Amino acid sequence: MALNHAVASAPTKLILFGEHFVVYGTPGIAIPISPRNYVTANRLEGGPSLHLTGVMGDAVFEPGGRIAGDLSLGMFGAAYHFLNEKGIAKNGLFKADVKLDRRCKGIGNSSSVGAALGLAVARASGKRLLKEEVFECAQQVDGVAHGGRPSGIDARTVVEGKPQIFRRLFSPPGFEFRQTGVLLPTGFCLVVIDTFRGKKSTTRELVERFGQTVGAGGLPETLSDDARARICAPYATIYDKAAGLLSKGTPDCAKSIGELMNENHLLLSERGVSTDEIEVLRTGCLKAGALGMKISGAGGEGGAVIAFVSEKKLRGVEAIAKDLGFVCFVVEIAKQGAVLEK
Ligand code: PMV
Repeated sequence: MALNHAVASAPTKLILFGEHFVVYGTPGIAIPISPRNYVTANRLEGGPSLHLTGVMGDAVFEPGGRIAGDLSLGMFGAAYHFLNEKGIAKNGLFKADVKLDRRCKGIGNSSSVGAALGLAVARASGKRLLKEEVFECAQQVDGVAHGGRPSGIDARTVVEGKPQIFRRLFSPPGFEFRQTGVLLPTGFCLVVIDTFRGKKSTTRELVERFGQTVGAGGLPETLSDDARARICAPYATIYDKAAGLLSKGTPDCAKSIGELMNENHLLLSERGVSTDEIEVLRTGCLKAGALGMKISGAGGEGGAVIAFVSEKKLRGVEAIAKDLGFVCFVVEIAKQGAVLEK
C-alpha cells in the first residue's frame, strides 16, 4: 500500500526561432506546448530506490548511482540524484509512473518529465520543491540527455509554462531568459512532424556540425565578440522581425511569420543541420499550403519539424507528412508550466 502519493505534470516545448544561432549569443524564441506529460509517484514500504515505469521503459535507480533496467532512461537518474542531494527521497522506495503524451525528439520531453518527476517524487516524500529547484532538476536531466551543459531553454520553458526569449551571455557566462507574448494569428496553427525512423542524430553532433560549417574554429566562448556577431548576423534580422510579429499575432502577420520561418530554416539547412528527408517533407508541405516550415531544436535525423499552416490547408499538410510515414500533431501554446496535480 502506498504511504504517500502525488501526481505532477509539465508541458513540452518548441523553439520557434533561433536554435543553433543562440549558441553564439543571439536571442531565440521558445513556447510551451500542449503535449503534457504526467508523473504519478507513490512512496512504498522498502529500501531506498526509485522505480521508473511507463511507455519509455522501466528502470531502477539506487542512491549510489547504480541503474538497472532500461539504460536509455539513465538521464532520469540525474533527477533522483538531485533530489537525494537535497535530502529528498533519500531513504524511501518510490515508484514513478510516467505517462508520456508524445514520443518525439525536439519537443523537450526530457525536461518535461524531469520537472514532473522531481515535483511528484518530492511531494510523495512529503516535501515541496521551489520553482528554481524544479528548474534545476529538469536541467540536470537535460544535462545527461544532451550530453553536455544545455542552454536551459527547455527546462525554463516547461517549468514557467510561458513563451520565453532566451539569450546566451559570454561575460560573465550564463543565459538570460525573459517572458514574452507569443500569439498565433487566428485561423492558423502549428503542426509538429516527428521525422524519427529509428535513427536520431545527437544534439552534440549537430551543434558541432553547425560550428564547423560556420567556420567557428573553436568553442563559442573562445571567439571574439566580432566573430560571434559575424556568425549570428544572417539570423539577427529574422529574430527582430519575428519577435515583433509574434507579439502582434494578427492575421495579416501570418504570411510574414511563415516567410521568416522559411528563412530561418534555410540558414539552418545551409549550415548542415537538416537532412534530405526533411527537405523532401518541406517541399511537399509548402506545396500543400504550409506558410512556413522549419526544424525546431537541434534538427538532424529524427528531429522535429514544425509547419505553420492555416486551418484550411491543415489536412493537405498532414496528408503529406503521413504519406512520408511521419507522425504529426497540432499543438497549442500551453498555459500552465510544471505543477502538482494533487
Ligand atoms: O533539440 P533541442 O530542443 O534540445 O534544442 C537544441 C537547441 C540548440 O540551439 C541546438 C542547442 C542549445 O543548447 O541551445
